[in-house]
Amino acid sequence: MTSISAGSKRDEPSNLRFIETSRPVVDESREVVASLSEQPPRLSPKYFYDSQGSELFEAITELPEYYLTRAEAEIFGRHLDEIVEALGVADVIIEPGSGNCSKVLPLLERALPHTFVPIDIAGNFLWEAAKDVARQLPELSVTAIAADFTRDWTFTQAIPAGHRIVFYPGSTLGNFEPDAQRDFITQLARVVGARGAILLGIDLHKDGVTLQQAYDDTAGVTAAFNRNILRVVNERAGADFKPDQWRHEARYNPDLRRIEMDLIAESEDAISVGGQGFVFPPGAAIRTEHSYKFTLEDIQHLAAHAGLSLAKHWLDNQSRFCLALLVPGTASP
Ligand code: SAH
Ligand code: AVI
Repeated sequence: MTSISAGSKRDEPSNLRFIETSRPVVDESREVVASLSEQPPRLSPKYFYDSQGSELFEAITELPEYYLTRAEAEIFGRHLDEIVEALGVADVIIEPGSGNCSKVLPLLERALPHTFVPIDIAGNFLWEAAKDVARQLPELSVTAIAADFTRDWTFTQAIPAGHRIVFYPGSTLGNFEPDAQRDFITQLARVVGARGAILLGIDLHKDGVTLQQAYDDTAGVTAAFNRNILRVVNERAGADFKPDQWRHEARYNPDLRRIEMDLIAESEDAISVGGQGFVFPPGAAIRTEHSYKFTLEDIQHLAAHAGLSLAKHWLDNQSRFCLALLVPGTASP
């Protein structure tokens, strides 16, 4: 069961509304028990993100090896006018997985929607980011929704009507499995309706060395981000992992066109969660993330599956990353 409450918090700017959906620990622990029981054991990447995990992700975006954020920013820097023109009327901009909301700012300033709706699972981090946006843009209404977007979108009633644009940057779509990617785009298409559009940031398939390095940086920030998932699972699902006993591993699988990120037990970790025990001997692996990489054709197929078409796309100057505009309807021949 997900409960929804619209809250007001201390020092809330008057143009900000905060909507919190919460899930009982028992639901989270049931989910964790199920995914750890799979072969190989798995944890959902959504558990990377509490405030600490979001800060670690922010540090990743500044790493020399992690080209994705810079490539996407380059596209915005070079093509913002054209992007805004292609979007047309944008009454409401919705951003699932909004993180620190830094990418959307130039878009909000140029497209001038009346409402911005950031949605994120990391509630406290979302709250701080949304407050900054509301203060910087006092004419804008901000409706921040703390929610797990892999669950039912019961919160859509809080999103105002009008021309809705979904902004989904950072290649976060790539952290879903292919069937879930299709379902998610279909869900977004439903939310924007017949008059809306989706602006999607997607990382492109490329040489394995560049990809491998982007997910295994020399400073060890991605390793810390990966291990942090165990601390979040302890907190959110009541487990008792010992994060220091696990090491980070990441590799590119060119056949499946995805980064595979694991945690490997360096010494035995016997844990309990949801009343169930799991023993991880030295060398045992838990899969924590897939980060799929795409071709333009993949993006076209995803769009078509959701009744959308790829209307326009922009690349950075090394063709590493793609910003794609998906609009309702099938592509004209
Ligand atoms: N959009 C930002 C952040 C990407 S990191 C950028 O491009 O830089 C992925 C974001 O998605 C994080 O902020 C994380 O908290 C959020 N997220 C991941 N899984 C989620 C889920 N299941 N529900 C809601 N938000 C989620
Ligand atoms: C949020 N997401 C798109 C990041 C990615 O590149 O898959 C998460 C990440 N994992 C390791 N580094 C960054």
